[in-house]
Amino acid sequence: MMSLLLKGAYIITGDEKGTVIDDGYIGIRESIIDYIGIGYEGICDRYERVWNLKNKVVMPGFVNAHNHSAMTVFRNYADDLKLMDWLFNTIFPLEDKITAKDAYWATQLAIMEMIKTGTTAFCDMYMYMEETAIAVSEVGIKAALGRGLQGDIDTKDDFRLKESINLYRNFHGSNKGRIRVNLAPHSVYTCTMTYLEMVAKLAWDLNCEVQIHLSETDDEVRKSVAQHKMTPTKAADKAGLLNSKTIAAHCVAVNDNDLEILVNKKVNVVHNPSSNMKLGSGIAPIKRMIDKRINVALGTDGASSNNGLDMLTEMRNASYLQKVVLKDPTAINVDQVIAMATSNGAKALGFKNTGKIVTGYSADIIVIDIEKPWYYPRHNIKSSIVYSGCSKDVETVLIDGEIIMEKGQMLTIDEEKVLYEIQRAADDLFL
Ligand code: NI
Repeated sequence: MMSLLLKGAYIITGDEKGTVIDDGYIGIRESIIDYIGIGYEGICDRYERVWNLKNKVVMPGFVNAHNHSAMTVFRNYADDLKLMDWLFNTIFPLEDKITAKDAYWATQLAIMEMIKTGTTAFCDMYMYMEETAIAVSEVGIKAALGRGLQGDIDTKDDFRLKESINLYRNFHGSNKGRIRVNLAPHSVYTCTMTYLEMVAKLAWDLNCEVQIHLSETDDEVRKSVAQHKMTPTKAADKAGLLNSKTIAAHCVAVNDNDLEILVNKKVNVVHNPSSNMKLGSGIAPIKRMIDKRINVALGTDGASSNNGLDMLTEMRNASYLQKVVLKDPTAINVDQVIAMATSNGAKALGFKNTGKIVTGYSADIIVIDIEKPWYYPRHNIKSSIVYSGCSKDVETVLIDGEIIMEKGQMLTIDEEKVLYEIQRAADDLFL
């Protein structure tokens, strides 16, 4: 039973109007924001604890809508390779050697990095998802988890599908609703049509989200056309996978017809600008999608194709890429990228009332120390964060009102142990 008042901060609310409140107050009761506005006499008496946050920015925590957390173990191991070469010749063979314990520590590392850079919820697709779910529960971050599915197998005996169903039964809605479980077919080019249809039916039965890599590269489109005689978007749609509960990562190589399908089926798109840049995949037509009212979220993708999990970098890259490709600095503005990094992601992942600082919403809140040279002078606080900010200035993180990090101290992770264990895991793996 905790109540907390945050007072005196610059508040970036992330609401539809892009409201910023100077010298603002946020009241938190249990897990919910119950007051937002300016101070009034006696307000401090209504809360058990009061934090004075002068010279701080308070904003909604970031939602990393596409990640493969345990891939932090591969960070900086295999870079500067072509996507398919990287995936099939380097990553997939190594993944066969990963143990459940490795995945657990790699996920702890990923979560530690995410919390320290202001992320309060993420979407994950990988293997050993029970270990991921345990790490997620222990730290207290929110997550939408899906066991990565690859289906050349057309039968229901597929062990990955069984793991998915068990994950759903054991963890969906657990840790006070902070964990959601979805189905995660890797892509249309690693699955047969029958398999994709089976996943779509199961998702319908469970009423859960589906996440999938969709049209990441031109090469993927060629593979899909060879295999399914259709673009990835059309193939996914034919399988029945596309609807408002679909989380489609990338959508770089989409044609006009694909875009119309994404609009009509109300698919959520996750833009991963750094990964797309590093793998030379291209630039997703994000402005066109936003203009067509597609819900566009932001993600980092796995740490081995990025090579970090820093959402502030993604915000800046997302903005700059659209400006570059369209040769138009007005292509995308700070309010749009803030929404992409917060409420749009929460919506995509199925977390209700999350991603904005408004009353009735979950208290998923980050505090950023702006008493640093790169935040002066203070003309526009949103621009300060998006264009000049540094995610390492995040000092405090609340999730559902619970303090996960306070003034740089992680309260639910043994930092030293995680760093030791991940290095040990990597040393064993790459012997
Ligand atoms: Ni990915």
